[in-house]
Amino acid sequence: MTTGELSASVEEQGLPASLRETLAGHYYTDPEIFRAEQDSIFEAGWFCSVLSADLARPGQYETVQIGRESVIVVRGRDGGVNAHLNVCRHRGARLCTEEQGEVRRSFQCPYHAWTYALDGKLIAAPNLTAMPDIDRAEYGLHRVHVREWLGYVWLCLAEDPPSFEDTVINDVTNRLGTPDAIVGYQVADLKLGRRIEYDVKANWKQIVENFMECYHCATIHPELTEVLPEFADGLAAQYFVGHGAEFGENIQGFTVDGSEGVERLPGVNEEQDRRYYAITVRPQVFINLVPDHVVFHRMFPIAVDRTIVRCDWLYLPEVVDSGVDIERSVELFHRVNKQDFDACERCQLAMDSRSYKSGGVLVPSEHHIEEFHDWVRARVG
Ligand code: FES
Ligand code: FE
Repeated sequence: MTTGELSASVEEQGLPASLRETLAGHYYTDPEIFRAEQDSIFEAGWFCSVLSADLARPGQYETVQIGRESVIVVRGRDGGVNAHLNVCRHRGARLCTEEQGEVRRSFQCPYHAWTYALDGKLIAAPNLTAMPDIDRAEYGLHRVHVREWLGYVWLCLAEDPPSFEDTVINDVTNRLGTPDAIVGYQVADLKLGRRIEYDVKANWKQIVENFMECYHCATIHPELTEVLPEFADGLAAQYFVGHGAEFGENIQGFTVDGSEGVERLPGVNEEQDRRYYAITVRPQVFINLVPDHVVFHRMFPIAVDRTIVRCDWLYLPEVVDSGVDIERSVELFHRVNKQDFDACERCQLAMDSRSYKSGGVLVPSEHHIEEFHDWVRARVG
């Protein structure tokens, strides 16, 4: 069959009722579409950036990439978190090129030494006396809107940000089915036990779509389906409902070998015990809740075919401080991550193929992904 015959047959026949269309291949490879997503998704809504506890002292900072912008997120002298565009107001030099660091009181531009306080105000510049009319507030760093939730710093680059309550908190709790399901895990009070960063050669939407379906679980996740046997049937719809998947009968904990985990989180109720919940916070956060820890993924879309994923394993502070072995619980989701990201990279390779020009199909257990596609289309056209 030639390529022409292939696409003609799909278009002419239409899809059987059990199948739905995916996005076409170019949605994953076209720089124009990625640019539209940067504009209308990453730079328009709330974006999860930094673990608040990583900015423990005034002057501690991280730089993060949101859409086309680099942003400095820094602990201020008043204890709050400030965020500014990482662009000097003089001639536009990038102020910080490190991913993280610590300054004493200010950021100084390496080019002509304009100096900004932690709250972004311009506080010094060479020959400032020769320009007495300069308004230092006017030439401060551009501020970015900040909110803290679940122990993370969320940023919005829009001048007029959408409501955080409506577009983030309520959006998540509505989709959970039981609105307060996440509260008992007290995510903001947990402590980082381990962080692993994955550099994934795939479009960010591949990663979202993969996270939303479990059709692949039986094929690529042997350890996970051992712990959560119902995942082997591929029907767990992870995206819209806080579907609690039950541990297998002989499974003692959410660990790579099903052995016992660490101390249970005190707010987890009986119904949530021995269960796994997965939540997606659009556009770039996935959270997994299990009785003794939380796995928190942040995605940073870097290019149309590259996404950095930072994955944090969070436990009770006393568990982390005690030095108790968390390796078996880290290893389980680390393997799941590698298996998932390998699959995403495998698909990314084919997105420019003529075979995928008009996309692929979603089987019934993947139909809910269509809503995510509609959400993307509504924003990028
Ligand atoms: Fe920063 Fe000149 S570009 S001081
Ligand atoms: Fe998976």
